[in-house]
Amino acid sequence: MSKEQTSSPRETVTIIDNSTGKQVELPLYRGTEGPAVFDIGGMAKQLGIYTYDPGFRSTASCQSAISLIDGPAGRLLYRGYPIEQLAEHSSFLEVCYLLWYGSLPNQQELEKFTYSITHHTLLHEGLREFFQGFRYDAHPMAIMVGVVGALSAFYHDSLDIHNPKVRELSAHRLIAKLPTIAAWAYRYSKGEPFPYPRNELSYGENFLHMMFSYPTEPYKVNPVAAKAMDLLFLTHADHGQNASASTIRLAGSSQANPYACVSASVGTLWGPAHGGANEAVIRMLEEIGSPDRLDYFIARAKDRDDPFRLMGFGHRVYKNYDPRAKIIKKLCDEVLAAYETDDPLFTLAKQLEERVQQDEYFVKRGLYPNVDFYSGIILRTIGIPTNMFTVVFTIGRAIGWIAQWNEMITDNQTSIGRPRQLYTGPAQRDYIPLADR
Ligand code: SDX
Repeated sequence: MSKEQTSSPRETVTIIDNSTGKQVELPLYRGTEGPAVFDIGGMAKQLGIYTYDPGFRSTASCQSAISLIDGPAGRLLYRGYPIEQLAEHSSFLEVCYLLWYGSLPNQQELEKFTYSITHHTLLHEGLREFFQGFRYDAHPMAIMVGVVGALSAFYHDSLDIHNPKVRELSAHRLIAKLPTIAAWAYRYSKGEPFPYPRNELSYGENFLHMMFSYPTEPYKVNPVAAKAMDLLFLTHADHGQNASASTIRLAGSSQANPYACVSASVGTLWGPAHGGANEAVIRMLEEIGSPDRLDYFIARAKDRDDPFRLMGFGHRVYKNYDPRAKIIKKLCDEVLAAYETDDPLFTLAKQLEERVQQDEYFVKRGLYPNVDFYSGIILRTIGIPTNMFTVVFTIGRAIGWIAQWNEMITDNQTSIGRPRQLYTGPAQRDYIPLADR
């Protein structure tokens, strides 16, 4: 991609530095959809001043053709296709193909892609031993950070990141191996044997087979659970320049190998403000416990002096209902019905959502359920423990990370990411000998 593809001829913005009266005209770019941006490169050169934007609230870090988030309207497109249509008609592996190659595959392309993923699910046997080094009670996300990063040790030499075929193989390996690493992290935490992936199973079935099967008896994956896993992976696959996607772009800009970069994104996703929220939602609902405690917790969430926040609510971009949350909430009903159970936490979650939607504090701030609010209900119904929830998010999001890494590598505007700062430290001063202090 080049600037020419995104530039709007003759549209500019003018920045005037009132402290000096100097001004600069900067090019304005419009994308396919969404807010326009202006290139501030000329400002630093001509005015000697920089932007200041902690949290990048008003900053576009790159151009991307992978996902579009329409925050005010609550819309999400993957390569132009609405998430609702993909959830209804597609599959996770077909979406992986779409995100990586940019178009939906035909039957032959999908079969070839699926064959490649299926035949990269095994880990080097040396990695099986790697798990043994973790504490018995290590959080599975700690194991994911370590083992994904350790993939570098097995593939670093063959990694010419400027070779498209090598980048494609890295993507296939990551998509294929993450469920194996994730399931084995869970099995390690239980002191149980590590089931090998099976090539006759679908992606979602294989993950659940490795999570719950035993070598001592046949295991049949529940088809409802397998379909639910596939849809959860699909709805988590990519989401613009979120914190963990920005991480892989920054890490990748140093030309580090993709496995080390994905490992950095896994660490970023772990935080409760990001992908760790799905685990935090369940812990919050368990702490609330019953509807008669909702008032107390909602009051705490509104109290600026109280660090408590409603996990699973709010979003930097969506100021409307997260479209993924709608899909996942509907899936909750389907999975609970199929398992012929209800979950008091799901009932409580819906009561909390209802109260929040009627409260001016949240409505005024555009705080609605996000992707993390209902996903845990499905996972715990299937039998996946709470500390594995962000691991599931990791499996879904890996394709988004590696597709954005690939886009960054092939963007001729890419250079090493190196932001500036507003220095607020001491002015230059001389060293004082110890005897004189
Ligand atoms: C994900 O970026 C992505 O796309 C991420 C993600 C993806 O797919 O990659 O969508 C996945 O990370 C979803 C978000 C999961 N995190 C949570 O659910 C944690 C709870 N949410 C909050 O921490 C918060 O909403 C964030 C972090 C998600 C967004 O924070 P922002 O954009 O920095 O919003 P803010 O802190 O500026 O909040 C604006 C106001 C503040 O009040 P005022 O200063 O205006 O008085 O809203 C309040 C906040 O206090 N607020 C909340 C709240 N979230 C924001 N108040 C109570 N509960 C909350 N959850």
